Amino acid sequence: MSNTGVGSDPVSIIIFGASGDLTERKLVPALFDLFCDGRLPSETRVVGVARRPYSDDDFRARLREGARRSPETRFDEAGWQAFAPRLRYVRGDAGVLADYERLDAFLRDDGGRADNRLYYLATPPELYAPTVEALGAAGMARVFGRGEPACSPRWRRIVVEKPFGRDLASARALNRALHTVFDERQVYRIDHYLGKETAQNILFFRFANAIFEPMWNRRYVDNVQITVAESVDVGHRARYYDQAGVLRDMFQNHLLQLLALVAMEPTNSFNADAVRNEKAKVLSAVRPASLGDTARGQYRGYREHADVPPGSATATYGALKLYVDNWRWQGVPFYLRSGKALAARSSQIGIEFLCPPHLMFRDAPSCRLMSNLLTLCIQPNEGIHLRFMAKLPGSGQEMQAANMEFHYRSAFTGRRLPSAYERLLMDALTGDASLFTRADEIELAWKLMDPVVQGWETGEAPSLELYEPGSRGPAGAEALLARDGRRWQPGCCVLAEEACAGHGPSDEGKHT
Ligand code: BG6
Repeated sequence: MSNTGVGSDPVSIIIFGASGDLTERKLVPALFDLFCDGRLPSETRVVGVARRPYSDDDFRARLREGARRSPETRFDEAGWQAFAPRLRYVRGDAGVLADYERLDAFLRDDGGRADNRLYYLATPPELYAPTVEALGAAGMARVFGRGEPACSPRWRRIVVEKPFGRDLASARALNRALHTVFDERQVYRIDHYLGKETAQNILFFRFANAIFEPMWNRRYVDNVQITVAESVDVGHRARYYDQAGVLRDMFQNHLLQLLALVAMEPTNSFNADAVRNEKAKVLSAVRPASLGDTARGQYRGYREHADVPPGSATATYGALKLYVDNWRWQGVPFYLRSGKALAARSSQIGIEFLCPPHLMFRDAPSCRLMSNLLTLCIQPNEGIHLRFMAKLPGSGQEMQAANMEFHYRSAFTGRRLPSAYERLLMDALTGDASLFTRADEIELAWKLMDPVVQGWETGEAPSLELYEPGSRGPAGAEALLARDGRRWQPGCCVLAEEACAGHGPSDEGKHT
């Protein structure tokens, strides 16, 4: 990843929508951690902008609570007292140009020296375009106006939170609004899954080792499964969620980004454009899903949340089968699933290999042959597991599945896994866009999701199944794989227990 460096000029991080949940739960705790680790540039201030009439002290008190409660943050009072003076609050309304001019004057006067600026859109999505437009109108999008040289040491950047549009048309409109005011190189569209250490490790695992890549293709891989399962329900976000549903909330962004990392070709070097070019190629090679290859569900009790209409048909669970139509992946199904209120929180990618072409152990009595399964565990038990067959000691030809395991926590003791926001905020400050999605990737992903969203929303197919909270999800998701003679792979934490339970292609299953 190229690192253009954060420089020694003062930096202002301006958060629009600063009275919201994201600022308190994720952004400021991450900035606090960076500060405590000495990684924030020395003259950094964080300026919150929102409509509420907070004083600096009100704002700080609210954020202190957020940092204290954050499970990812190592809160300590002395550190907070050192950090708090960097937090400032400016009251402002997204639709009022004069408020931006006031903000600009504040930023110029308060710092004394000319600053670099990272604008962060943490507002409701309908305010993204008006905010961008107003930043342009107030002359705040550029240091030197339109003619600003690309190599200028000073900068203005903008981070855009998800959701980035709600379909292809609105995503294109938002990209147009951004490009009217900012150059693409100034825009950082965040997908926090890309900031997770274990998601980044997909590329390191694939391309910093020589032994896996030769098998990473249709000649050896039977199928790929990507699961992002959550045990939490929609909680207090029901109003947003009911408009979004699982496809917009999880598939268009996180799951398709994980798929792109698993399926992409290696690049010549690890820089933002090279990586994003390859991811975009994968997304453009994905065949649109047929509705018959999808399943959807809603957990029982979802319609009882305040803000959810009684007859809501919003899916809280989805499963899809996709194919990547290129030389490497022709014919290999990629099964994707995600849902809320499930039995366990588990995000993982399983690469299931074909079985050996011929089995010489014909007298193996009880345990069926199981395929090799490589599982990349994204969370919560970050690690990598490889399932393989082993001879049962003392037996004739009896064998059993066993695992080789790598766990981040035991392998790298003493090293904290930084939060995704820490990583991504730091990258935006240093000008490294590798882990941010480019305009074309966003549009390609919507192009893939739009027909499925429409099919589900018009009730064309498949039917919406209710599932029990705390269960494995709707039966339709199991049926989707059963039709192909497959099953969902076991979760990372139960691999060992399920090793002999007959998962994976059966012995009459897929052979090279
Ligand atoms: C967000 C979704 O993007 O990702 C949420 O909007 C979801 O609905 C969250 O809960 C999951 O993220 P994580 O990091 O907890 O897996």
